[in-house]
Amino acid sequence: LPLEPTVMVIFGAVGDLALRKLVPALYNLFLDGYLPERLAIVGVARRELDDAGFRQQLKDGVDRFSRRGAADQKEWDEFAVRLRYFSGDFTSAETGTLLGRRLEEFDREWNSRAIRVFYLAIPPGLVAAAARYLEILGVCKDCARDRLVVEKPFGRDLASARQLNGFLTSMFAEAQIYRIDHYLGKETVQNILALRFANSLYEPVWNRRYIDHVQITVAETVGVEQRGGYYDTAGALRDMVQNHLLQILSLIAMEPPVSFAADEVRNKKLDVLRAIRPIRTEEVHRMAVRGQYSRGKVSCKDVPAYREEHGVVSESVTETFAALKLYVDNWRWQGVPFYLRTGKCLQAKVSEAIILFRPAPHQLFPAAAVESWQPNRLVLRIQPEEGISTRIQVKQPGTRLLLGPVDMKFRYNEAFRVTPPEAYETLLLDVIRGDATLFMRADQIETAWSVIAPILDVWEAVPPADFPDYAAGSWGPETADLLIAKEGHSWLQPD
Ligand code: BG6
Repeated sequence: LPLEPTVMVIFGAVGDLALRKLVPALYNLFLDGYLPERLAIVGVARRELDDAGFRQQLKDGVDRFSRRGAADQKEWDEFAVRLRYFSGDFTSAETGTLLGRRLEEFDREWNSRAIRVFYLAIPPGLVAAAARYLEILGVCKDCARDRLVVEKPFGRDLASARQLNGFLTSMFAEAQIYRIDHYLGKETVQNILALRFANSLYEPVWNRRYIDHVQITVAETVGVEQRGGYYDTAGALRDMVQNHLLQILSLIAMEPPVSFAADEVRNKKLDVLRAIRPIRTEEVHRMAVRGQYSRGKVSCKDVPAYREEHGVVSESVTETFAALKLYVDNWRWQGVPFYLRTGKCLQAKVSEAIILFRPAPHQLFPAAAVESWQPNRLVLRIQPEEGISTRIQVKQPGTRLLLGPVDMKFRYNEAFRVTPPEAYETLLLDVIRGDATLFMRADQIETAWSVIAPILDVWEAVPPADFPDYAAGSWGPETADLLIAKEGHSWLQPD
């Protein structure tokens, strides 16, 4: 699609997010020819820099973090002329006047009122002030052309998320607010929708009659890296479950939408969150477990305990692992457990959803033939080695009747031989195009907070007695195994 002239203003333009994710994503989009011809990327931050210094910092970022780097100087230069910088406190009248003037100049130069995207790549505590500032400046008033992008964490509980939503929607239309959950930009997360709704094969069995349970794992090998200060006030439930894991669950469990229009899809996803059975205070211990890593070895490297990480308090009770058992109380999913787990410093980096099917209704083969029988499973691998595999039973070769499991596999890189775009590439392009399908609406965010609210409350009221309780490099605390063992299930570790 030919795109209209666009100005992207990034607040926090020399911060980690901008350097590692946003600018590399924009550069890749530029190289692929997806960005509008008339484009300006305006950075705003406190650091004293001129345009040249800003461009150099971003180039370093692209070299280090982009999937392609900025090796070709000519291409980089073509991109770099579009980069401008304003140093200053973004809430000061001076910066505001200059910024407002510059935005108008772009419109005059291009002879067209540009699309304006204001990206708040700043700490959560500053989001409300930045939004208010934009409102006062009057630069983000055009509902059809002006957009505001807000990063997670969106609030730290239901009350603060509601307050922030209320504040933002008092100044901007909901359609102008793009709340990012970068998991929704991942190719294979979007592919869940394609698998389910572009094929007729799976939908008939996608329900409680055929599905026994669902496991969603987002395991990381990294610890908290440089983000101890933030993470210690958040924990795994807020940092990962409230957003990424519940979004994956919504895509797996949603009903088919009437069309792919943003609100059709978001309505159906919201219905899933609304149908999640509320967890009563007294059952929190049966439905959710937490953990924190101690020293250990991850990929043969020694890793300090969480409490020894930079920015983390020495007696911290913040969870670095969380596992939940949820039920979706609707016609399709009644009685089917959804198990969710996520953690830092685990044995392997893997994000996947596994759908486990019920056994065939009648076992007609002799017991000796089905010694290594396993239920059918569908594995949706989000990362790494993105793909989908189905485990089926086959007759093993030989004169004896012996059944055994094999996997039918589809791998993205084998099938397409291209590197898929990074999540931020997809999402930034969607913002420029004005497509909000992959962004979170206020009601989704709030409902997701209300799903985990009882757990947050109980965990805050009752500190864990046994932290740290799993070794870095393991698969998390034993209590996570017990959580699902009660139903006769066990976590499937990635192949
Ligand atoms: C972020 C969390 O949202 O997602 C991080 O704040 C986490 O703690 C990251 O490491 C994981 O993202 P990805 O894309 O590496 O799976």
